[in-house]
Amino acid sequence: MISMQPIPSSSPSNFLFYVVLVIFLTSTSISSSYDGGNETDHHALLKIKSMITRDPYGALTSWNTSLHFCDWYGVKCGKRHRRVTFVALQSLGLEGSLSPHVGNLSFLREFSLFNNSFQGAIPHELGNLNRLTILYLEYNKFEGVIPTNLSGCLNLQMLDLSKNKLVGSIPKEISFLSKLSFLSLGDNKLTGGIPTFLGNITSMETFGVARNPLGGIIPDTLGNWKKLVEFASGNCTLSGTIPHSVYNLSLLAIFGLSYNQLTGSLPRGLGAMLSHLEILQFSHNQLTGPLPSWISN
Ligand SMILES: *[C@@H]1O[C@H](CO)[C@@H](O)[C@H](O)[C@H]1NC(C)=O
Ligand SMILES: *[C@@H]1O[C@H](CO)[C@@H](O)[C@H](O)[C@H]1NC(C)=O
Ligand SMILES: *[C@@H]1O[C@H](CO)[C@@H](O)[C@H](O)[C@H]1NC(C)=O
Ligand SMILES: *[C@@H]1O[C@H](CO)[C@@H](O)[C@H](O)[C@H]1NC(C)=O
Ligand SMILES: *[C@@H]1O[C@H](CO)[C@@H](O)[C@H](O)[C@H]1NC(C)=O
Ligand SMILES: *[C@@H]1O[C@H](CO)[C@@H](O)[C@H](O)[C@H]1NC(C)=O
Ligand SMILES: *[C@@H]1O[C@H](CO)[C@@H](O)[C@H](O)[C@H]1NC(C)=O
Ligand SMILES: *[C@@H]1O[C@H](CO)[C@@H](O)[C@H](O)[C@H]1NC(C)=O
Repeated sequence: MISMQPIPSSSPSNFLFYVVLVIFLTSTSISSSYDGGNETDHHALLKIKSMITRDPYGALTSWNTSLHFCDWYGVKCGKRHRRVTFVALQSLGLEGSLSPHVGNLSFLREFSLFNNSFQGAIPHELGNLNRLTILYLEYNKFEGVIPTNLSGCLNLQMLDLSKNKLVGSIPKEISFLSKLSFLSLGDNKLTGGIPTFLGNITSMETFGVARNPLGGIIPDTLGNWKKLVEFASGNCTLSGTIPHSVYNLSLLAIFGLSYNQLTGSLPRGLGAMLSHLEILQFSHNQLTGPLPSWISN
């Protein structure tokens, strides 16, 4: 408690001080009634639970008032500030949709709903989570488009939306995610090609878009992905030639391009440059020319 000294009423400056002090104390008590944001987290988690319509293993029975939300199943909080930093509800057979209130968990760093039956849209409010580093929504039934707003998750490193029912194109705004190293969008219904701007993400290590009717060509800009280890774009109705810039990707180990409509031939130098190559999948294309001799290395 701050002990109040009697205020001499004569001095105008003391009066001003008193007014400022009263405003300060009033606003402090208002903000503490919001519990520094922890009630927002509590409320958001309850909203998320309320939109889960089936929980066959009773995983969310611990999400009740007798436990603090930091002790709920699949939830972790920061030790000091007690805000939600981690939510993982994986392989739980959950059905329902994802509440937009997830976007209010503003301290969230890792979020996974891997392998459930969530349907409906991926809420664009996820784009408010600028501390998020991992977002795993793969193996669900999410529909609609990849929200452009995900570009707001500026710290995102791993994004997996594979094995859903997503349509539309890969938003070019994804290229703002300058820390992204893992992007997995395979097994959806995405169209509109591989955006050229994705070449801007120089941190990219794993890129997977296999089994989407994407169409278009392989952009030359992916030669900027100097850290790339895996490129999986089989069965994407890609046409055109394999751009020469990919031969600059010296760390590339897995290169999957089977079941496309690629034309042209493989340059002779490729083996020498791609010294880490382990898996090369080029079958079912319209590639021509001889098999280069480096293949035996
Ligand atoms: C929220 O924080 C306030 C003050 O820090 C604390 O009194 C309250 O118990 C907290 N509520 C929850 C649900 O953690
Ligand atoms: C609340 O969760 C705890 C921990 O899982 C459980 O033991 C308890 O039975 C639950 N209470 C209710 C009312 O579901
Ligand atoms: C998905 O979750 C179910 C349980 O709901 C489990 O039986 C299955 O093995 C999981 N699949 C994967 C790929 O983890
Ligand atoms: C949380 O998110 C919802 C939906 O996005 C919004 O309507 C609400 O105002 C947000 N804030 C709080 C404190 O719940
Ligand atoms: C997210 O998208 C909505 C509508 O599409 C827009 O109004 C909002 O400003 C966007 N927010 C961010 C953080 O990009
Ligand atoms: C990508 O980088 C180029 C320059 O290399 C720049 O002109 C462009 O605006 C960037 N685009 C996006 C969407 O990041
Ligand atoms: C290619 O993808 C389509 C759906 O986009 C699927 O029906 C087909 O079986 C896939 N083919 C191969 C060889 O994976
Ligand atoms: C490939 O690397 C060489 C040598 O480092 C460089 O001169 C060339 O511009 C690069 N090409 C592309 C398309 O990145």
